[in-house]
Amino acid sequence: MTRATNHDLRVNIRDMSLADIPAIMQIERLIFPDPWSVAAFKEQVTAEGWGGIVAECGGAIIGYGCYYIVESEAHLTNLGVVPKYRRKSVAKQLLGNILQFVTERNCEYVFLEVRPSNRGAVAFYEKHHFEVLYRRPNYYKQPVEDALVMGRYLGGTEKDQQL
Ligand SMILES: CC(C)(COP(=O)(O)OP(=O)(O)OC[C@H]1O[C@@H](n2cnc3c(N)ncnc32)[C@H](O)[C@@H]1OP(=O)(O)O)[C@@H](O)C(=O)NCCC(=O)NCCS
Repeated sequence: MTRATNHDLRVNIRDMSLADIPAIMQIERLIFPDPWSVAAFKEQVTAEGWGGIVAECGGAIIGYGCYYIVESEAHLTNLGVVPKYRRKSVAKQLLGNILQFVTERNCEYVFLEVRPSNRGAVAFYEKHHFEVLYRRPNYYKQPVEDALVMGRYLGGTEKDQQL
């Protein structure tokens, strides 16, 4: 569904496993001020309806994305790319893979939270047709910040369905 362009870095995308968590934690601690715990990733990999994928380049994990599904709703819970591999469509490929997976499981909506100060991530999601729905006060800690709740409808016209 996500179409590769000549500018896309070629990555191998596969399911996240428990064995990937140490490598993912190194990236997570590098890129987020409030990183997830090992336990959070373990739950993400093992709990019913939850899942994760990783993007590999040269055999190393350079990005990952996590989600869960509740009935017709999908939630994107994490998305990160190693800084030196950014702006090469790695996140686009991860997001496209997740949107295809959840659409095939009959999800109609996908939601996520993002810090308003994270202009790059907000721009990324807007580029991929997510809209800001509302603001959730003081959602984030370390540092405290509101969350923007963004959502995207996955049904609709054929044009809308281009993931
Ligand atoms: C947000 C993030 C996942 C994007 O990953 P990426 O692989 O660089 O994204 P892609 O290459 O697929 O998409 C790039 C597009 O997203 C938008 N974008 C990404 N970073 C941007 C930035 N810093 N400023 C402006 N636009 C940005 C642009 O539209 C860009 O297109 P362009 O390069 O043609 O201008 C990455 O910056 C990241 O890991 N950030 C830290 C973790 C994070 O914030 N995760 C999201 C939490 S909700």
